[in-house]
Amino acid sequence: PLYKSLFGLSSLEKELQNAFGLSRVIVVAGDSDHSLQTKRELGRAACQVLRETVRQGDVVAVTGGTTIAQVANQLVLSASAKDVWFVPARGGLGESLDYQANTLASTMAKRTGGHYRLLHVPDFLGEEAYSSIMGEPNIREIVDVIRSSRIVVHGIGDAKVMARRRRLKETDVAAMTEEGALAEAFGYYFDQNGAVVHKMQTVGLRLEDIVNTEVVIGVAGGKSKADAIASIMRFGHNDVLITDEAAATAIVEMS
Ligand code: G3H
Repeated sequence: PLYKSLFGLSSLEKELQNAFGLSRVIVVAGDSDHSLQTKRELGRAACQVLRETVRQGDVVAVTGGTTIAQVANQLVLSASAKDVWFVPARGGLGESLDYQANTLASTMAKRTGGHYRLLHVPDFLGEEAYSSIMGEPNIREIVDVIRSSRIVVHGIGDAKVMARRRRLKETDVAAMTEEGALAEAFGYYFDQNGAVVHKMQTVGLRLEDIVNTEVVIGVAGGKSKADAIASIMRFGHNDVLITDEAAATAIVEMS
């Protein structure tokens, strides 16, 4: 039975890899909606990929969330990965402190002997506040570092769940729902075809930065996220997906 389940997972990996044109897919056993152990396994697999990917002097941008927290808590890099910088992918999105990108970037740096820079500004700003904040040399400098990231590690969420968690304004939630928002990743919302809805000016990584990032690693599992994961994969700029059996099975069944 063990052989069978291992074989099952690797065929799920192949199916997802082909369906979305990814360079690498890892599927861990279980359903992280119901098992913290499975979520930990997602984190562990992502750490493995990072260990193989991170090179000396890299800038690694990370998002927040409970899944990426499992990456941060377990991260170990090889001794040759010196002078690695960890930065938040975006400004503050209204997450609780434990799961903010800033917190996770600093945890990763501390665990691995790397460096970190934090971005202490809210992500959603009006036109005027945006230009005056971006005019601050200190902020500008860290934003430039973030936008030069070679690697992005991000979670994926259901749009409604994330909008609620981040206490988005009712009018924004209504507008997004109207536009068919289904998934959230790196602070953006996407419809079922992977098109961005509700585009706004943002501090940190812009969509064009993500498109140009060399290695984009998505980490998300749980059956409840299957639609959201598929939507982000249809956006089409991921290189690596790390997910679990429950999400992978649901995605394969719906396509
Ligand atoms: O971007 C998506 C969210 O950060 C996912 O959060 O890992 O806590 O579900 P989560």
